[in-house]
Amino acid sequence: MDKKMYEAAKQTLDRAYVKYSNFRVGAALKLKDGRIITGVNIENASYGLANCAERTALFTAYAEGYKKDDIESLLVTTEQDHIVSPCGACRQVMNELMPADANVYMTNKQGDVQTVLNKALLPYGFSGDDL
Ligand code: THU
Repeated sequence: MDKKMYEAAKQTLDRAYVKYSNFRVGAALKLKDGRIITGVNIENASYGLANCAERTALFTAYAEGYKKDDIESLLVTTEQDHIVSPCGACRQVMNELMPADANVYMTNKQGDVQTVLNKALLPYGFSGDDL
């Protein structure tokens, strides 16, 4: 894991809008051109409309013109002692918007890391190939 990604995700935690859960999540997306794009979770009074940190980072990258093959890896962190992994909705979006072989780094507040391939997070996933 690139230490810079972890530091970027950690620094962005302050920007999480977590009025309802108070559960801060930060994500850092590493692009092949070396850039790091961050994301935080952004909640809403209509709870189901919360956008997770992972999706915020991915949508920001696409909005800036990056595509699937420009993405190298994604890191997620929280303020928790335990390692947190991406939710099901994020896995579905990651499955479509990130390369299958991209590394996903799941970390905790101490900097421990668990690494998985994106494709391992959503076995038997539904994709555009099914349409
Ligand atoms: N959350 C994320 O941002 N990423 C995840 O992978 C898990 C959950 C957010 C959604 C909500 O704002 C808060 O964490 C509690 O579920």
